Amino acid sequence: QWTAVDVYTYKHSHPASRPNTKALESTLIASSSAGLPDYNLSPTQGKFLALHCRTAGVTNSLEIGTLGGYSAIWLASENPKLRLTTIEYKLKHVQVARKNIELAGLSDRIEVIHGAGIDVLSRLREEVEAGTRPKFGFVFIDADKDNNWNYFKLSKGIVKPNSVICIDNIVRDGQLADFSDTDQYVMASRQVVQNVGKEPGVDSVVIQMVGEKSYDGWLWAVVN
Ligand code: DHB
Ligand code: MG
Repeated sequence: QWTAVDVYTYKHSHPASRPNTKALESTLIASSSAGLPDYNLSPTQGKFLALHCRTAGVTNSLEIGTLGGYSAIWLASENPKLRLTTIEYKLKHVQVARKNIELAGLSDRIEVIHGAGIDVLSRLREEVEAGTRPKFGFVFIDADKDNNWNYFKLSKGIVKPNSVICIDNIVRDGQLADFSDTDQYVMASRQVVQNVGKEPGVDSVVIQMVGEKSYDGWLWAVVN
């Protein structure tokens, strides 16, 4: 029923504005045809993040883990004033994403940086500190899960006050709270939940989700 409810509510809510719908659908098809894993957000999740950025008036956003560009296209296509910097480690993903973004007509507002998250974030921090790059108003972390806590710490230093840092895939089918489970991604989720929860200058919550992406959830942190 989770998928049925996603499909039903998405159909009867306000979906992506046309012509963004086409670009989003084409992105999923092209990503799948190129052999990329099906780790994209659901349309409902993409819409939610885009609405958050609109409500918060986000003009500069950051993503770690581009994959085929689906979430990037959601954020930018639904927010005409939003710019996004998105970091991707795998060259093939970078190539597929750049093509999808170009076809969506968003190459002027989405910058795909090819590199390892830690390296690129360190460089972005230098640029922010040098004043050559503006601080970010929203960060979406959706990359190699082992580095979630590192990505969070680096992101925290380059966001404006009152910005959200959202981390995908935290709940992991409920394994998060099955303490007999010591899978490395589950351990990484626990590490980031516990560390963010103790971090000064931050307020946070984990929201569980079901839907067409099964059972998972986000860590939603606000940096004061
Ligand atoms: C995986 C990664 C993701 O970012 C996601 O949303 C779903 C699954 C994975 O590595 O298995
Ligand atoms: Mg994910």
